Amino acid sequence: MQYALTINGKSHTVDVDEDTPLLWVLRDTVNLKGTKFGCGAGLCGACTVHLDGAPTRACQTAISDVGKASITTIEGVGETPVGARLQKAWLDVDVVQCGYCQAGQIMSAAALLAQNKSPSDSDIDAAMDGNICRCATYSRIRQAIKQAAGADFGALGPQRKGA
Ligand code: FES
Ligand code: FES
Repeated sequence: MQYALTINGKSHTVDVDEDTPLLWVLRDTVNLKGTKFGCGAGLCGACTVHLDGAPTRACQTAISDVGKASITTIEGVGETPVGARLQKAWLDVDVVQCGYCQAGQIMSAAALLAQNKSPSDSDIDAAMDGNICRCATYSRIRQAIKQAAGADFGALGPQRKGA
């Protein structure tokens, strides 16, 4: 069946089964590989994208449920002011270790900052709760979110990989 999608502001028409997960459509049909497959069960957050700005697990979203929602992926989030600030902060803080979870982490963080310009620690923890990092970069993720929000409390200071 054909579906007309808006992904990162561009129109795409895909012809897939109605129960195809959005994650497969993004990666295999539209060739946007930045969104990652982790658990495939809604548990890790690696596949997080935005549907009309809301963080959404692409592995758990059938293409037939997307409707007219505008899809934003890690390839497009840097075009938004919040996404651009987050990407800069991620580099400044040197958040990433293996990197596998990080696209999903940034997508969840961008959705948080779009709604809450000055999140508390508990706001950040709640918003990021479903995004798992096997490299345990959680402290640096929190620091980068605070920096992007304009509230770098500096508790950790810049950290290098492996710190
Ligand atoms: S791959 Fe979707 S939540 Fe893990
Ligand atoms: S940076 Fe390796 S899984 Fe998060």
